[in-house]
Amino acid sequence: MSLMNRHAIFEKNSILLTVGILIVVAIGGLIELVPNFYLKSTIEEVEGMRPYTPLELAGRNVYIREGCYNCHSQQIRTLRDEVERYGHYSLAAESMYDHPFQWGSKRTGPDLARVGGKYSDQWHHDHLVDPRSVSPASIMPSYPWLADYEVDPRFIETDLAVNALIGVPYSEEMIENAVADLRAQANPDDDNVDAFLERYPGAQVRSFDGDPRKLTEMDAVIAYLQMLGTLVDFSLYDDQADVNLR
Ligand code: HEC
Repeated sequence: MSLMNRHAIFEKNSILLTVGILIVVAIGGLIELVPNFYLKSTIEEVEGMRPYTPLELAGRNVYIREGCYNCHSQQIRTLRDEVERYGHYSLAAESMYDHPFQWGSKRTGPDLARVGGKYSDQWHHDHLVDPRSVSPASIMPSYPWLADYEVDPRFIETDLAVNALIGVPYSEEMIENAVADLRAQANPDDDNVDAFLERYPGAQVRSFDGDPRKLTEMDAVIAYLQMLGTLVDFSLYDDQADVNLR
């Protein structure tokens, strides 16, 4: 019996064909999946990535609570139009400390992966209180309460501890000082600013909402937005970007 004739057995019996397909696909799948279980990490390490500061983490929590991810992605794809509009495409390492990740699946508004430094704090403040005041045709909702609600510091220490539990490299010291660091980042006159900056080198310290006496959710969200996409120095990776886009 030639090979062709044996194949006819499968072609005449749909159950046998289905089982045959399953076996072949399973082999292909296993070859792709199994090696991943033996790798320590599938994320290439990138210089500059650090765990979020307590204030950035608090801002990220507000971002999730308010559902910003329903309209904003944080994921720049490797396509020329995306890179020209938003900047360097996103690296896996840039969301390695996100639990859960904020890649998003809908872009009613622009991608926010690199929005840090694009606007002033004042712009963000005005935009969040009333988007139409700075972007006249905007359909983004207003979030005026962010300027009034104070950040509740009771949970930030636990928040860092839980993130540490699932792999974010927060040290004991960072967890113990979470509340102090939360306050220091939004108040340049705070006694703990130097210690804070030793724990989170290069972090931005200032009153993000313009009022250093009050630690508001506005401070937290703006601190988070102004950090997005600024941690990695992309001059180190530009050659790679050119190759991939050509
Ligand atoms: C209903 C959809 C929607 C929601 C929800 C939403 N946005 Fe937006 N956002 C938009 C749209 C549309 C724009 C573009 C127009 C504008 O600038 O307002 C935008 C623009 C922005 C920009 C400026 C981006 C840029 O590069 O110009 C920022 C920052 C931003 N949003 C932050 C947020 C934050 C933070 C939240 C949650 C508190 C949020 N958005 C919730 C729709 C939304």
